[in-house]
Amino acid sequence: MKGRVLVVDDERAIGIAIQRLLAGRGHHVDTALSAEDAFGRLAESAYHIVITDLSLKQASGMDVLRWTRQHAPETAVIMITAFGSEKIAVEAMKLGAADYLPKPFDNDELQLTVERVLEGIALRRDLRRLQEQVEGAYQFERIVGRSAAMQRVFDVVRKVADTDLTVLVRGPSGTGKELVANALHYNSARRGRPLVKVNCAAFTRELVESELFGHEKGAFTGAATAREGKFEIADGGTLLLDEIGDMSLETQAKILRVLQEREFERVGGNRSIRVDVRIIAATNQDLEGKVKGGSFREDLYYRLNVVSIVLPALRERVEDMPLLIEHFLAAAAARLKREPKALAPDAYRALCAHEWKGNVRELEHALEQAVALASGPEIGLADLPASVRGDPEVAARSDESAGSFRAAKQRVIERFERQFIEEALGRHHGNISHASEEMGMYRQHLQLKLTEYGIDPAKFRTRR
Ligand SMILES: Nc1ncnc2c1ncn2[C@@H]1O[C@H](COP(=O)(O)OP(=O)(O)OP(=O)(O)O)[C@@H](O)[C@H]1O
Ligand SMILES: [Mg+2]
Repeated sequence: MKGRVLVVDDERAIGIAIQRLLAGRGHHVDTALSAEDAFGRLAESAYHIVITDLSLKQASGMDVLRWTRQHAPETAVIMITAFGSEKIAVEAMKLGAADYLPKPFDNDELQLTVERVLEGIALRRDLRRLQEQVEGAYQFERIVGRSAAMQRVFDVVRKVADTDLTVLVRGPSGTGKELVANALHYNSARRGRPLVKVNCAAFTRELVESELFGHEKGAFTGAATAREGKFEIADGGTLLLDEIGDMSLETQAKILRVLQEREFERVGGNRSIRVDVRIIAATNQDLEGKVKGGSFREDLYYRLNVVSIVLPALRERVEDMPLLIEHFLAAAAARLKREPKALAPDAYRALCAHEWKGNVRELEHALEQAVALASGPEIGLADLPASVRGDPEVAARSDESAGSFRAAKQRVIERFERQFIEEALGRHHGNISHASEEMGMYRQHLQLKLTEYGIDPAKFRTRR
């Protein structure tokens, strides 16, 4: 690996000698004559390695080390120490130096040290990328859902993941918008490059812009050093603009320009920066309403809404509940290192009756709490959060959404009942008397259910 190296030495001749030597091996080398000078350069651009002499005239090499660890933690520091100062070398290593070179050293020693440190950097970077890929490979599979609505989501994700199309992911809070963004990125050819996420709602306009576009040194009070923005960091990868509905009109105009021209300037700068970034935007807001109301630019809306993925609220896909419950119980048990436990029927009924305003996130947290609290052989009603335990009344409310919720719940109950009956019939090879006996049901009642669900007991007779 060829590196970018900064040499800090107040003896110009030494700096230049090191520069010549390393440049001869293909590295890019800059020199600085003082700690101050070095800080300026480090703030302006990124280096893999800083090689600094321990004894500089003003601030010492230790100061360079400390400053670099703090402000440019990705940059490795090699300390040049005087003959016989092992103690200080050890001190430097404790403070996070990558290596040290006792004087006098020859060219080979210098080259070897630099190359070893660069190798370490390359390894760590590969490892991190590998790690991200391993984690990412499961992202798609981690989205649980069998409902027709979720099948449609998977279908679109599969079709557009490996394209550069802009995707707008919508849905109420906690429905899995970020999961979808992950699935899109990790199923695209960009998966080896970064997926960078920016929450557009979390900051003031100035901060969002410096977060997105970066800033030059001195762009505003507090901008002591220049910084890359998320667009630059995401180069070659994907940028998730989260909570896009909460962005100021000024910032919207700037985003629109990047989308159209693929270039921008850092805050306080005038150099144009070009990037290759795939954009995914997410929001739980009514963007069309915001366009009508004038707080969201129509042109940006069309630019972002090339492909639209809508995640329905959990109560509109109650069919997914059993799978999600199973998934989160197992995940929580594994995370908390507990034996997996079954859910008691009353706890299950309470989960089905709850409104889930916080959607899948709320369900995940409720089950995690339940797994942590449960002390009996199964997870009971008492282990669920009070908010979930106490609201059959809420579910019974007669407003419209509760109505559609009840209808959906009814479908789930029916599905379960049908499965229950079919399994019993299977066990008894289609014998209605035996099956009804096992289920504790009147024979006539089972007959009615069979007609209602269109189940043919003859089908199970052949399975002997
Ligand atoms: N279909 C799903 N399968 C498995 N886990 C899910 C699913 N949907 C959501 N989750 C989990 O629920 C939590 C919330 O999901 P996520 O952060 O993606 O939601 P969001 O839509 O981005 O919410 P917000 O609008 O609040 O940012 C996460 O822990 C996520 O793993
Ligand atoms: Mg989110």
